[in-house]
Amino acid sequence: MLRLKSESDLKYMREAGRVVASVFAALEPYMEPGVSTAELNEVARQVIRKAGAKASFEGYGYPPFPGAICVSIDEEVVHGIPDETRLLESGQIVSIDVGAKLKGFHGDAARTFQIGDVKPEVEALVTATKQSFYEALPLMAPGYRLGDIAATIQNYCEERGYGVVRELTGHGIGTDLHEDPNVPNYGTAGRGLRLQVGMTLAVEPMITLGDYRIEQLSDGWTIVTADRLPAAHYENTVAVTKDGPKILTAL
Ligand code: MF3
Ligand code: CO
Repeated sequence: MLRLKSESDLKYMREAGRVVASVFAALEPYMEPGVSTAELNEVARQVIRKAGAKASFEGYGYPPFPGAICVSIDEEVVHGIPDETRLLESGQIVSIDVGAKLKGFHGDAARTFQIGDVKPEVEALVTATKQSFYEALPLMAPGYRLGDIAATIQNYCEERGYGVVRELTGHGIGTDLHEDPNVPNYGTAGRGLRLQVGMTLAVEPMITLGDYRIEQLSDGWTIVTADRLPAAHYENTVAVTKDGPKILTAL
C-alpha cells in the first residue's frame, strides 16, 4: 500500500533518519583493516539501541536476517550478513545498509566506504554511485515521475560504463520498511507513477563495475554480482514535500 505522510509523520521519520545517519558517523572510525563485520554490526546495534530505536533489519524476512545492518564487501551488492570471521582489508569497498525504527517510523540508508587504498576504477564506481543519487535528487519533487528518477540514475551510470542492478529496487517507506511503490534505478523518463507531496521513498542505486546481473548466495541473503566484479550501493530516505525533496537520513 502507498501511504502518504502528514507533516507530523515526517517529523518522526526525520528523527528515525537522524538515528540512521548517526550510525554511519559512529562507524566511520571503525572502517579500517582488521575490523570484523560483526564488530561493525555491534557498534551499529548499540547506537540504534541508545537512541531508543529498533534495528529495522534484525529478524526481517525469511530466513530472518541475523544482523542489525547489512555489510556487503566488493562483489557483494547488498544484504551481506555480519560475520565475526570476516575482517576488513585494504583495497576493499564495503557497503553498509542501516535501517532504524523510531516512534513507529523507519529510516533506511546505505553508504559505501573505501578501506585503505582502493583501485582508481573502483573508487570511481563508488563516487559515481553516490553522484547518481544526487543527479536524481532534484526530481524527487511533486510532478515528476518515478521514470524520471530511474532514467536519470540509469543514464548517469550507463554513460560511464557501469551496470545498473535491475532485480532489486528502492521502495516506499514509512510505518513499514518496504511500502509501495517500487523505485527502480532503470526506466524511461516521463513514465511511471507521478510523485505527490507526502510520499517517502528510499532511493538506492546499486551499481556494478561489470555486468548488472546478480545472484543470491546459499546463505539465503547475500546478493553478489554474477561476474563477481565489485558493486557499490548508496541510499537515502527522501520525503517529497511542497518545497521539494528533503533527505530524512541526515544528521
Ligand atoms: N535497504 C535494504 C532494503 O531496503 C535493506 C533490507 S535488508 C534486510 O531492502 F536485511 F532487511 F532484509
Ligand atoms: Co532500502
